[in-house]
Amino acid sequence: MITRRGFAARLGAAVAVGRMLPEMAYAQRAMVQGNLPKDMVWLNANENPLGPPKSSLAAMADVLASSGRYHYQEVRDFYAALAHSEDLQPENILAGSGSSEMLHAAVDAFTAPDRPMIVMYPTYEGPPETARAMHRQVIQVPLRADYSADVHKLAEAAEKSRGGLIYLCNPNNPTASITPKADIAWLVENLPPDTVLLIDEAYIHFGESENLETALPFVRQGKNVVVARTFSKIYGMAGVRAGFVCARPELIEKMKPFRNNVLSIIAMRGVLAALAESRTMVPERRAINARVRREMCDWLSERKLPYIEPQANFMMIDVGRNAREFITKMPPMGVAVGRPFPPLDNMLRVTIGTGAEMQRFRDVFWRVYRG
Ligand SMILES: Cc1ncc(COP(=O)(O)O)c(C=O)c1O
Repeated sequence: MITRRGFAARLGAAVAVGRMLPEMAYAQRAMVQGNLPKDMVWLNANENPLGPPKSSLAAMADVLASSGRYHYQEVRDFYAALAHSEDLQPENILAGSGSSEMLHAAVDAFTAPDRPMIVMYPTYEGPPETARAMHRQVIQVPLRADYSADVHKLAEAAEKSRGGLIYLCNPNNPTASITPKADIAWLVENLPPDTVLLIDEAYIHFGESENLETALPFVRQGKNVVVARTFSKIYGMAGVRAGFVCARPELIEKMKPFRNNVLSIIAMRGVLAALAESRTMVPERRAINARVRREMCDWLSERKLPYIEPQANFMMIDVGRNAREFITKMPPMGVAVGRPFPPLDNMLRVTIGTGAEMQRFRDVFWRVYRG
């Protein structure tokens, strides 16, 4: 097994290269390589155990034989379909190799030596790590007691630094908590000049709270808001690498120079097939995830183990001691769990897998917990 120091060194090396790899999921796997059971249960990277829908698998298989061509002529229709799916125009969309690439592009476009990145903390490390690699200042604003973003302090920090890029993940990774829609609306209305708000909605489809709402209406209103979405989570296509951002055309134009290229034809065809059935698939998958998640919450409550009320396809369990013990002991016992998320040192992040996978998690977790 790779030690934490080795893990940090790898991460450091990736940062030094400049743009990080689709790094966090990669690093998660790297962390638990070694002598592992063959039937390992992967609950460490917030993937969807259902995988791509059957229609996507068929569409991707169908196009393989003609993947010798670029298929550039299909890009326009692809953008039209993405835009249509969110009631936007194609000029509001920029797609890339996972939302990671688009988050990078936003950091590239909207931070500068005198324009910091301002993030809730803790949150998904990808964007702030990218900013640090570019020698940008990163200002961390601690979450509130209910694990929502402190929107007033985020605005204050942007005001003080005379602009910058605010990153707000909703629901937030790693806490699976949400920032209420009224707070997001307040932040949009009170954005200081020269400030762009990047809202990462990678997990929004899994939330059930009435207080959780997409920020896409603000994009339609032409605000300084960029919304990031991915096909890696509810659509179960993490390995296909497809994601996009939505924003008003001027902001999209600023991000365009910073992405690599168009998506592969395999990813585009897979996404188009998934979008065609999203109206039924998304609520179905949300319900499946919520049922398994509820079983986990009930099990923890019965044992009086605290957790953060989850609104995503993962959850944070308060193990009452440093969670590193679980993070290192569980993989050799067949269950990979999330990485450490300082300063929440006693919290263990676990992805919601299938019912059977969560049963396995509970067995192994309990063995480690009982010591
Ligand atoms: C909040 C958040 N945003 C973005 C990503 C990157 O996802 P992808 O590049 O696969 O779209 C992740 C990955 O886990 C994530 O947790």
